[in-house]
Formats: sequence, structure tokens, C-alpha cells
Amino acid sequence: MKEPFVTREQLETITQQFPTPFHLYDEKGIRETARALHQAFAWNEGFKEYFAVKATPTPAILKILQEEGCGVDCASYVELLMSHKLGFSGSDIMFSSNNTPLSEYVYAREIGATINLDAYEDLAGLKASAGIPEVISCRYNPGGTFELGTDIMDHPEESKFGMTKEQLIQAFTELKELGAKKFGIHAFLASNTVTNDYYPELARQLFELAVEVVEKTGVDLDFINLSGGIGINYRPEEKANDILAIGAGVKKVYEEVLSPAGLGQVKIFTELGRFMLAPHGLLVTKVLHKKETYRTYIGVDASAVNLMRPSMYGAYHHITNMDNPDGEARIVDIVGSLCENNDKFAVNRELPETKIGDTLVIHDTGAHGYSMGYQYNAKLRSAEILLQEDGSSRLIRRKEEPEDYFATLYGFDFEK
Ligand SMILES: Cc1ncc(COP(=O)(O)O)c(C=O)c1O
Repeated sequence: MKEPFVTREQLETITQQFPTPFHLYDEKGIRETARALHQAFAWNEGFKEYFAVKATPTPAILKILQEEGCGVDCASYVELLMSHKLGFSGSDIMFSSNNTPLSEYVYAREIGATINLDAYEDLAGLKASAGIPEVISCRYNPGGTFELGTDIMDHPEESKFGMTKEQLIQAFTELKELGAKKFGIHAFLASNTVTNDYYPELARQLFELAVEVVEKTGVDLDFINLSGGIGINYRPEEKANDILAIGAGVKKVYEEVLSPAGLGQVKIFTELGRFMLAPHGLLVTKVLHKKETYRTYIGVDASAVNLMRPSMYGAYHHITNMDNPDGEARIVDIVGSLCENNDKFAVNRELPETKIGDTLVIHDTGAHGYSMGYQYNAKLRSAEILLQEDGSSRLIRRKEEPEDYFATLYGFDFEK
């Protein structure tokens, strides 16, 4: 079973104050996860989590993570700007972008962020625009498939990200000649992995690569960035990852590969998004309509604009009816109101009997949820609310109003 982090009574109080739909985040859970991650990697002196801002680009959330000792991983100018304004200092910001406008390298250097080069070809542009920084990272792509035992987890050869081993060695050689002093290696080879073996296997590949690269280039390797990719148990029958076991798995490989090669001072970085935040967010929505045709449709006031993953990837998100959690089971589709037939949060899902007016919570929406939202059908973005540690709730982003939708238009007078 998946239990929401909020009780029915708490949620009733919140929905009396804030209209649905909205995203609700759990401060206590966020802090606990951050602490567990730090505990798992406490064996590595320089360990740092650079939270992937793209997962939940909400200042109040980033502040909580900052208080827990995390940095941020940014992918664009505005993410950099937000992080800088939030008081993340240079070494607390990783810039893991791709296909990057040169002006963004210039800004990243201005605020002292660590640049993670996606392509060998980016080196010339970086040199010509921002210049070569003292600390720099390169993103690796081994090609082929990424396998764990007999399972194919992903296909790096089909991924647009990162550079080949030969390119990475060439980039390190040139960057060193151009004045770079400290180096990092980064890779993201599989997404939403629900296994404790992903990071240790990735670490083995990157640590072996690191030994070879240092041997061939003589660079001072400062860090290895395992990036994101640790998943969560979206389905109740899936077993949650054990971050302590993951940390211990990486430590074992570190001691087998890096320490004997004289690289026992290398810092481990992570750029987790989903693992840090997904379980600590709920999309709260109310049932507006019921429709019986060839199926039973339950129409709710949220739609794919609030949570794109089910419509985009067919991703499973568990749903709880807060008003009738133990009702008689029915097979239904839970749908939004977009003029798109993929606007469905659940298809042929067995759920307890649902009535108009019931409050449903869609689980695990804390990462890549609100942030992937859009405005199709002139739908307005929802609010975000934080359930604070003391049990009170606080609006951390208001919902959009029509004025916001019209704000960027010319030749249209909203006031008329
Ligand atoms: C460069 C980079 N780092 C980290 C992440 C975070 O990944 P996840 O949320 O799966 O941990 C992403 C996600 O897209 C990414 O592109």
C-alpha cells in the first residue's frame, strides 16, 4: 500500500483554504531523504548532492535542500539565475547543460558555477566565450547498452548526451594545456532505476575510466559525478531503493578501484532529482464529473498540464481516494479536461468507488511533476503548497490567473 503523507483531516483543512488542483510537498520527508543520502555517503569526505533543479524548480523547496547541505544542478540560464539569487554560491552550483548557448557559459562563469561540458565540440565555444575555468567537468557516454546482469537498463548509444572516451581524453588534454587545474567526470546512463545496483555499477564504469584517464592525461581528478537516475517505487508492489545499501555499494567499488590507484581523495557528487523529491509531492485534485460510455470515466479538475508523465510516458502514478479509501473496487479511467485523448492519469485502473466531489491524491509527483507543466488549452498553472514540519501549510507558489497567461502578449488589452 502507498500511504499519503497527509491525513484526510489535514487535507480537508488545506483544501478549504486553497482550491484544487495543487501540488502539495512534505517538508519532513524532504529533509529525511536528504539526511539519509548524506548518511549513505558520509564515508566520502567531499560528497555533495547537487539537486537537479529541473525536477522541482521552486525556491522554497530549494531552500530546504540548501539548509540540508545540498547544492544545485542547473540546466539553463534561468535555473542558474534562480539558484544564484537563492544564495547558492559558485561551488554549490553545477551547470550540466547540453546544446548550450555560449551566453549561458559566460553567466555560469560569472557566478562561479562548475561547468560540465556535454560535448567535445563545446570546448572551442567555451574558450572563445567564457574562457577556460580552473575547475571543469566533462560528461561521458560509453555508447552501447547499459546492463545490470541480464537486464538492459538503457541505451546510451541512442542518447544525445555526453562524449566518447576518446573525446573525453582529448578534452582533458586540451583543457589542461589551456589552464584548467581540477577535473571532474560525469555520466547519467539510466533513468528511474529501481535497484540498489545502478549506482555501484555506474561507479565501477566511471572509476575504471577515471583511472585510465588520469594515467593518460595526468590531470588532477577532483570529483566523479554519478548524476541522477536513482528511481522510486511509483508502483506499490515495487520495492523502494535502499540508499544506505547504494552508498555502501559505491564505497565498495571506490575501495576496489579508486583507492588502490592513488585516487582515494576523489570526491563523489550526485545530481539526484526524482529520488530526493518525487515521493514527497502529491497532486491534489477533486472529482468534477462521471461519465459512462464504453468505459467509466472519472473527470478531475487536474489535467496533464499539471502532471505530464502519465500522458507522455504512460507512467504509473498511484492514486488514493481520500474520501473513500476502502470503497468497493471499480475499474475506471481518471481523466483531465484537455482536448487530448492522452489526458489520463489512470487507464483501466481498479480504484475504490469514487463520487463527484471526492478528493483524490496522485502520488509521487514531487519531481518532474509541476516542472514539466504547460499551458495547452489555456490551462493555468496550479499552486504549490508546502506541508511544513509543524503540520501547518504554506503557499509557496500561487496559482496562475488569466492575467499571467496574457502578460506576454502584445496587441491584446486584457483590461478592455
Ligand atoms: C544532467 C541531469 N542530472 C540530473 C538529473 C536528475 O535525474 P533524476 O531526477 O532522474 O534523478 C537529470 C534529469 O533529467 C539530468 O538531466
